[in-house]
Amino acid sequence: MGRRRQVYEGKAKVLFEGPEPGTLVQHFKDDATVRHRRGAGIITGKGVINNRISEHLMLRLGEIGIPTHFLRRLNMREQLIREVEIIPVEVVMRNVVAGSLAERLGLAEGTPLPRSVVEFYYKSNELNDPMVTEEHITAFGWATPQEIDEIIALSLRINDFLAGLFYGIGIRLVDFRLEFGRLWENDLLRIILADEISPDNCRLWDIDTNEKLDKDRYRRDLGAVEEAYQEVARRLGILPESGPSDMKGPEVMQ
Ligand code: TMP
Repeated sequence: MGRRRQVYEGKAKVLFEGPEPGTLVQHFKDDATVRHRRGAGIITGKGVINNRISEHLMLRLGEIGIPTHFLRRLNMREQLIREVEIIPVEVVMRNVVAGSLAERLGLAEGTPLPRSVVEFYYKSNELNDPMVTEEHITAFGWATPQEIDEIIALSLRINDFLAGLFYGIGIRLVDFRLEFGRLWENDLLRIILADEISPDNCRLWDIDTNEKLDKDRYRRDLGAVEEAYQEVARRLGILPESGPSDMKGPEVMQ
């Protein structure tokens, strides 16, 4: 591919200008960073797997009427997406106590929550994405009250659907993080799901063993990180039982 204009570089992804106006190319890197920890490591093959997993989940969500930025996969590490104006708020949905919720409130990891809990974080690398309330979001103009209502409604639907989808393949959806963007279609402003949904931003536990199949394996130095991501892809049916060989790229046929 010729020279492309880079629009944005994040921790795990790069965005390039797309082939048509209003589109971007989202490139998935193997880089892995951990909040409050300096530097980045590499999870070999992560970008390839996350490209596939995020595509799969965004397509399934699209089928139940959730508007997403996903247009189509371009190659092993890249997908074409709609360009949106990112709302600077991360939404975390929780079904089971884990991570920062366990630490902040002194709760035991693995305790099921009596109802799904929604949290908001202000997107700011300098500030380490601090937790905020709806009041902050509307007072500082990051989103309007109507937009927040729409974001919560979409997040709850996404949670119900994904929790069921993962339950069907023996995985508990403990929590996950979403990002949304604004898209103007003619005169209509729509809120659409953006970023990615992958083991980088979900907690996924095996239902029988509670084995972690997500980025916590990396954050907590548990090992077998790539294998865990592959296991999620395999159970989703996007990796053949034989292994990841179909993801390694073109092969010469005899
Ligand atoms: P937390 O319990 O650490 O607040 O994480 C909640 C969810 O957000 C979890 O599913 C993983 C996701 N997450 C990210 O996407 N990026 C991060 O840097 C962290 C720490 C969590």
